[in-house]
Amino acid sequence: MPHYRRLGDVPPKRHTHHHDASGRRFAEELMGQEGFSSSSSLLYHRNSPSALAGIESVDDLRATTPATPDIPLTPRHIRTGSLPVDTGSDMVGGRRVLLANDDVEVSWVVASADSGLYRNAVGDELVFVQEGSGSLESVFGRLDVIAGDYVVVPAAATHRWTVADAPMHALVIASRGHVAPPAKYLSPYGQLLEHAPYCERDLRAPTELIERDGDDVPVLVRNRGGWSRHVHRDHPFDVVGWDGCVYPYALNIADFEPIVGSIHQPPPVHQTFALPGAVVCSFVPRLFDFHPDAVKVPYHHANTDSDEVLFYSAGNFMSRAGSGIDVGSISYHPAGFVHGPQPGSIEASLDATATEEVAVMLDTFAPLRVTDAARSVSDDGYPFTWAR
Ligand SMILES: [Fe+2]
Repeated sequence: MPHYRRLGDVPPKRHTHHHDASGRRFAEELMGQEGFSSSSSLLYHRNSPSALAGIESVDDLRATTPATPDIPLTPRHIRTGSLPVDTGSDMVGGRRVLLANDDVEVSWVVASADSGLYRNAVGDELVFVQEGSGSLESVFGRLDVIAGDYVVVPAAATHRWTVADAPMHALVIASRGHVAPPAKYLSPYGQLLEHAPYCERDLRAPTELIERDGDDVPVLVRNRGGWSRHVHRDHPFDVVGWDGCVYPYALNIADFEPIVGSIHQPPPVHQTFALPGAVVCSFVPRLFDFHPDAVKVPYHHANTDSDEVLFYSAGNFMSRAGSGIDVGSISYHPAGFVHGPQPGSIEASLDATATEEVAVMLDTFAPLRVTDAARSVSDDGYPFTWAR
């Protein structure tokens, strides 16, 4: 839950009359989570956000391929750079689903065009921008995004993605619930604590409202039943002001302050977000462990209760040297497989004092299914690279 923000014109008292200079009343909308029992924002529209001019059926626009259990159990190197890219694809329709379970859906997208209006009513989306830049335009205003940004898009927020520096490459984690900072870093009242690896100042929110006119405006809607298109009588970007604790925000991975120790620190120190059935961690440049006898690369580990997905964003990945892993790679290490450093990497790290790696990890507590798209770009030799 981000902290309270306010943008634009809101009345001094909630649920009171609010109107423009001519006396035309604004329509107040509460966007609230968990019924009326959790965070919310109040938005003031020039027109009714409920005014529909049409409802249409649509096909699932994403390039979805069947997702099946990873049987026989296979650790994978998924090469995102080998996925086909459709000309003119955008940040919503261009997604290729790679891994999924009932909690999360992991997609890769390469976008060169602006998207249409979109609303995901299933849950929040966490978008990690790997390359390029653009903006997230929403009912909350414009939020400019750059490479390295995590962008949290709250459930049910009508938005679109524009591309400035094309193409944008992004990893998209669509949740069935809400994405939040880890509870261990929050005070009972929601403030990020002193030992948290980032604080409120690192979070960027929309700074400028977007007011747009338009009639019969299509919005792609995803809900728990599937996909639809709602044609809104008026453009949904007609908000004159909002306030509250629900809004899109960005955190750049470069603003995540690493926690280091004299011996190897486990992945929970890298945790950045929590979501139902999963956690997201950031591995960023940091000093290596400084005990004179510290082993600086991770020990072999069996994640007995989770599947581990790691996206390699930048730098060199010393513990994975010789595996074929490089920038843009995704490793998928499912529960039931013990993974660890590649042969020779412990020796190679002996004189190193720092790591330059930038990577995003998703651990899921339920097994992931693997799509045909992910299988088609999996390196068949990867599972055997530890045996070389
Ligand atoms: Fe691991």
